[in-house]
Amino acid sequence: MSAKIIDGKAFAATVREKVAGHVSRLREVHGIVPGLAVVLVGDDPASEVYVRNKGKQTLEVGMNSYEHKLPEDTPEADLLALVARLNADPAVHGILVQLPLPDHIDEEKVINSVTPSKDVDGFHILNVGLLATGQKAMVPCTPLGCLMMLRDHHGSLSGLNAVVVGRSNIVGKPMAQLLLRDSCTVTIAHSRTKDLAEVCRGADILVAAVGRAQMIPGDWVKPGATVIDVGINRIPAPEKGEGKSRLVGDVDFDSAVQVAGAITPVPGGVGPMTIACLLANTITACCRAHD
Ligand code: GUN
Repeated sequence: MSAKIIDGKAFAATVREKVAGHVSRLREVHGIVPGLAVVLVGDDPASEVYVRNKGKQTLEVGMNSYEHKLPEDTPEADLLALVARLNADPAVHGILVQLPLPDHIDEEKVINSVTPSKDVDGFHILNVGLLATGQKAMVPCTPLGCLMMLRDHHGSLSGLNAVVVGRSNIVGKPMAQLLLRDSCTVTIAHSRTKDLAEVCRGADILVAAVGRAQMIPGDWVKPGATVIDVGINRIPAPEKGEGKSRLVGDVDFDSAVQVAGAITPVPGGVGPMTIACLLANTITACCRAHD
């Protein structure tokens, strides 16, 4: 039997449509245009692609997009000064500083310099604490997108065994918090977990966020489980020629799709949901600012 493919691209389009509706109402009824500022330091090609896509989609839903591109050797103090200006700017409702930052900049210091109410990434220590204690937080975009797809597929997640493979601050830990908030029994597994295969086999919901290409094979998946693959890894194409490469997840899709009940593909699964949730978070920040 083959799993249901969870279409993140289509789901993200519906989220963007809802966001666009909110933007129209804010503009027409209240005369407010939500604004998202994105800051990119340096010229990492993958980050440049992300930032370009964010800017494009921000404009497409009718929001204002403010892009700030700074050179690789920007002093930390200059970046902090820019964040302070954006914090004080009433036209900016959301601020995202693209990670990773160059080595000479203290990432935590920059993350925590963003006003928590404009922290659409949900990375500020205050938002991390609010999420962990079940209070009203800005929630990190990738795990929020995963949660939306899980709720859409399952309805209630209450009582399900969820295994999150990966313990990053950006995905693994907030994902676990969100699943716990939805009354799952949550295990966070990682590279040091003993018998990872057996742990994964206990999961009704398996979220893979380790950043290692195809490391989770189908025989680690419980029959009928829902598999959410957060990984985006570029590997050489198996066929020879022209240095082609392709994107794969952390799950071996071809074997897992035979066993799972539902699975997100890569590309076209979690990826598109991340930017859609960033736009949704910007609406949330905007509405809270004008409450
Ligand atoms: N780099 C990779 N993913 C992210 C993200 O979700 N937010 C930020 N700020 N940087 C990233």
